Amino acid sequence: MRHRSYNMGGRLLAFCSVALHKLRHEGMSSVLRRCFNKPHEWYRVRRARSESKFDREFGTDTETVVPLWKLEIDSQYRDEGTRYQTIDPDAVRIAIENLPIEFEDFVYIDLGSGKGRTLLIASEYPFKQTVGVEFSLELHTIATGNIDRYSKRKCKNVSSLHLDAASFDFPPDNMVIYMYHPFGESVFRRVLENLEVSLDHRDREVYVIYFNPVLANLLDDSAFLERIELPALAAIYKHIPSSRPLA
Ligand SMILES: C[S@@+](CC[C@H](N)C(=O)[O-])C[C@H]1O[C@@H](n2cnc3c(N)ncnc32)[C@H](O)[C@@H]1O
Repeated sequence: MRHRSYNMGGRLLAFCSVALHKLRHEGMSSVLRRCFNKPHEWYRVRRARSESKFDREFGTDTETVVPLWKLEIDSQYRDEGTRYQTIDPDAVRIAIENLPIEFEDFVYIDLGSGKGRTLLIASEYPFKQTVGVEFSLELHTIATGNIDRYSKRKCKNVSSLHLDAASFDFPPDNMVIYMYHPFGESVFRRVLENLEVSLDHRDREVYVIYFNPVLANLLDDSAFLERIELPALAAIYKHIPSSRPLA
């Protein structure tokens, strides 16, 4: 089993992308303030820093971490789930913007979408559809409220599904599948099996954006995905139809 970590060049490129993105969208004074206040946290991905700013700006509720023990979850995979926490919006935007795709031709799917922050971010791009899959009813309900409130949309079809990711049927479209280390190995394997079966039925383009890629070895080992280097703070994989080995 291989587990490839980010290379230094890739990380540096990703860092520069985040810096440029923030300069463009927030201005020099905001960026300098961040650098001097908390230089060590400047571009962290794990905890969202601009979260309150995001929620303040859009009137949403996406920030607060929720451990799963506080939630009623009817799933055999409950214990494999990771707690709800979200991510720096710019880290997601940069990963999406660096994909070499026409957004209109792809459906964006967040497996383990929680309160739906990345659905909101993805809806800023003209994806054909944006779908979240979340097994906590409480988090799904919050996500639905957030979707209703979000005003900065280019994608017209945005939804959260109350469903276990292990039972999710992939749509027959090209897909961008986003994950922020949502679950453990048996769910992950099940999701990959479902994806492969779905591609067997109808081969198509798939990109996977995987933040905090604890189980990247499962993607590295899969026969139908290939890791690609893009300036993003996530592990990114692609499947293109012609790259599939014949059955
Ligand atoms: C780290 S959070 C990521 C939230 C969101 N994707 C984001 O980046 O803002 C992981 C989420 O996955 C959900 N989750 C865990 N296991 C799941 C499963 N088997 N099916 C659906 N959702 C799951 C958790 O409830 C939690 O909301």
